[in-house]
Amino acid sequence: MLGNLKPQAPDKILALMGEFKADPRQGKIDLGVGVYKDADGRTPIMRAVRAAEQRMLEAETTKSYAGLAGEPEFHKAMAEMILGDLYKPGTTAALATVGGTGAIRQALELARLANPGLKVFVSNPTWPNHVSIMNFMGVPVVEYRYFDAETRGVDFEAMKADISAAKQGDVVLLHGCCHNPTGANLTLEQWAEVAAILEKTGATPLIDLAYQGFGDGLEQDAAGTRLIASRIPEVLIAASCSKNFGIYRERTGILLALCADAATKELAQGTMAFLNRQTYSFPPFHGARIVSTVLTTPELRADWMAELEAVRGGMLKLREQLAAELRSLSGSDRFGFVAEHRGMFSRLGATPEQVKQVKEEFGIYMVGDSRINIAGLNQTTIPILARAIIEAGV
Ligand code: LMR
Repeated sequence: MLGNLKPQAPDKILALMGEFKADPRQGKIDLGVGVYKDADGRTPIMRAVRAAEQRMLEAETTKSYAGLAGEPEFHKAMAEMILGDLYKPGTTAALATVGGTGAIRQALELARLANPGLKVFVSNPTWPNHVSIMNFMGVPVVEYRYFDAETRGVDFEAMKADISAAKQGDVVLLHGCCHNPTGANLTLEQWAEVAAILEKTGATPLIDLAYQGFGDGLEQDAAGTRLIASRIPEVLIAASCSKNFGIYRERTGILLALCADAATKELAQGTMAFLNRQTYSFPPFHGARIVSTVLTTPELRADWMAELEAVRGGMLKLREQLAAELRSLSGSDRFGFVAEHRGMFSRLGATPEQVKQVKEEFGIYMVGDSRINIAGLNQTTIPILARAIIEAGV
C-alpha cells in the first residue's frame, strides 16, 4: 500500500534549512527560516520563560491530561494580549493549538464546517504553508494582490479591489502585523478601509498573528487586529507564541473565534474542542503554561516585555544599518524599503537567479523569493550581504 504514495514537494523554507546545514563553507550566512537569532547566531531561551519553567517544575504535581481546548488561564492571558479591552469572554471561543500552524489549520477546518463551499482569499505573496495547507485540504484559494514589486510596499488599491470580490461565507486571510514574507504592512488607515470592505461584503477575516511584538511593539502590532475586532462581528484569529516567547519547539498557539453572540460562541467552542479531539486530542500543555505564567506574573511579564523590546529594537537597528550600507554601496535610496519594513522579514525583490548567485558565490541563504530574515544578520554580516546584493545586480 505505502508503495503507492507519491513523493510530496518539500517545504521550501524547511528544505533551505537542510541545505544550509549541509553547506561546509565557513562564514555561510543563514537568512532563511523565521527563527530569531542574536548577534552570535544563537536562539536564546528568554529569561522569563526560563524562570516560568523553573516555577512550573516546582509547582507541578501531575502530568495527567488537561483541557481539550487548552487551559482557561492561557485563553484569557492570550486573548487579553491580543485584544486588550476588546476581549469579551462571553462571545469569544478559544482553542489552544499545536503552534500557529495548528491554529491556522483548525481555523480553516472550522470555517469549512460552517461553510463547505468557502473560498479563502490570501495575499500574493503569503507564507507558502498557508497555500499548501489549503491545497492539501482541497479548499479553493483566491489570491489578492498585495506587494508592489516596484516600491516594495503594499499595493493597496489592488488589494482593495481584489478582496472586494470575497462574499459572505468566504474567508479573507490577513497578516496581523509583520507580513510574511514581504515585511510590508498596512497602516491603521488602511486597516480601517479593509474593515469597511469586510463590513460591506460580509466575508470573515482570519488574522494570522505570528509576530506580535516584532514590528512596532506589542500593543501597536495588535492595532490592526483590534480595529477589525471592533467593527466586524465574526473574526478568526490564529496566533503563535513561537516567536514572541521564543518557544518554537513547544508548539504553542491559539485560535480565537470572536462571535456575534453567546449562543454562537458556545457552538464554535464545542466545535473547536471537537476539532482538537479529531486531530490530536489534547493540545500541548507545557508551552501554554509557560505563556500564561509569564503573562500573569507581573515581574516575569515585565522582564519578558523588556527582553522582547530589546529583540525588536535590535532587529530595527539591523534594518537601518543594512539600508545605510546599501545606500552607500548603491549610491541611491532604492533600498530604503529595508528600513521601512517591519518584523523579521524583508523581500528584497531579487530574481531567483540572483538569489542563487548570492547563495553560490557568497554562501548567503535566503528564501527563493528573496525573503531575508533580518535577525540572521549582525555587524559582520551586514556589509557582506550588502556587497552580495549589489554584485548580484539586485
Ligand atoms: C517562516 O516563515 O520561516 C516561519 O514561519 C517558520 C516556518 O514554519 O515556516
